Amino acid sequence: MPINLSRIGHAAVRVRDIERAKKFYTEVLGFVIEEEDPEHGGVFMSLGRDDTHEGHVFDLSPVEDPDNALDAPERNQVGVAHIAIKVDSHDDMKDAYDHLLSNGVTVDRLVEHANQRSMYFADSEGNRLEIYFEFPTSKELFKRGRGDRDFVFTFEDPVPPWATEIPADWDPDTTVDRYHRGTVRTMGG
Ligand SMILES: [Fe+2]
Repeated sequence: MPINLSRIGHAAVRVRDIERAKKFYTEVLGFVIEEEDPEHGGVFMSLGRDDTHEGHVFDLSPVEDPDNALDAPERNQVGVAHIAIKVDSHDDMKDAYDHLLSNGVTVDRLVEHANQRSMYFADSEGNRLEIYFEFPTSKELFKRGRGDRDFVFTFEDPVPPWATEIPADWDPDTTVDRYHRGTVRTMGG
C-alpha cells in the first residue's frame, strides 16, 4: 500500500518570547490566531484567508527556559534553514517589502532566482523567514533547466519575461545572464 500524503501542513517554531512573537506574526505579518492553548503554551495561526480550508499553518510555542535557550541555527548547522511564505503576485511582494520596512524589519537580501523572487529576513526571535513570488512558469523552468543563477534585484527591475512565458530558445546558461546584464547586480558583484 503506497503512502499517500496530502501536503505540508504547518511549521512549528519555538520562540524565546511568546508575546513578542505573537505580536510580530499577527501585527507585522498578518497571521490570525486560530487557537491558543494556555496550558500547553502553543499558539496556532493561519494566514486568515477564505480561499483555503487549512486550520493552521504556523505554530508558535515558548522554549522552556528563555534565559538559557540557544539562538536559532547558524548557517553551518543542521536544521531548518528558513520557512518560506508565498505571495500571489509581484505587486503583493512589493507591498510586503514596503510593509516590512515600515514596521522596522530588516530585509537582508532581495534575490532573483531564475524561477522566483525572494526576500529574506528574520522574525522577532531570530528565526529565518522568506517571502517569495514564484513565477507561474516555475515548474516548467525546473524541467527545462533553470540554471543556477542568483541575482540581487530591486523592485524597479522588471519581472523577467520568462516569468510569464518561457522563450522557445530558452537556454539557462545564456538567457538569464544576457537579460540581466547591466540591469541587475549579480550576487557579490
Ligand atoms: Fe527558500
